[in-house]
Amino acid sequence: QYTRSLSKVLQLTLAVIKPDAVAHPLMLEALHQRILDNNFVIVRYKDLVWRRQDSERFYAEHSGRFFYQRLVEFMSSGPMRAYILAREDAIRHWRELMGPTKVFRARFTSPASIRAQYGLTDTRNTTHGSDSAESAQREILFFFPDFCTEEWMEKEEPSFRSGQIHYDQQKQIHTLSEQS
Ligand code: RTP
Ligand code: MG
Repeated sequence: QYTRSLSKVLQLTLAVIKPDAVAHPLMLEALHQRILDNNFVIVRYKDLVWRRQDSERFYAEHSGRFFYQRLVEFMSSGPMRAYILAREDAIRHWRELMGPTKVFRARFTSPASIRAQYGLTDTRNTTHGSDSAESAQREILFFFPDFCTEEWMEKEEPSFRSGQIHYDQQKQIHTLSEQS
């Protein structure tokens, strides 16, 4: 039997800290730290503000739902922060850390989750996370049009996976360590 332990390929996901949380600098800082504490690698991040049409385009799949208008308005109401995160099973782990969509359910079923601890309402629920590999790819491109997943997977993933990286306190992202 082949027993050498092989580490699994890192997966990328797109995470967003929504306007309700970015409005509070201490909350933003706590959430950034929460990402690091949960062993996510921060590949990129960016602060931005959406125009209404960005919000409509991103959430097109929800058009027609009763909460669409308030969602679109909320997401273009102020600054937010988007991250590309890497980890084994990053998509699942990040969604688990966020907790259920509805804040009151989150408080009941997953009191340690981000939405339970910081969420305000079912719409103003602090964070977003891609829900599948396909949406992660689409959403990464939506926020980071210059980022090439294929190239990252080929050139950087192996070094990131084997831990040849460090957290850059200045840039607040993980970067490849210098080869000596
Ligand atoms: P997300 O996309 O933000 O990661 O959240 P999710 O998959 O858990 O939730 P989804 O069903 O995709 O809904 C997208 C976002 O719409 C807002 N929402 N408001 N009842 C409401 O008022 C309501 N329901 C959903 C939330 O901001 C939710 O995250
Ligand atoms: Mg969703």
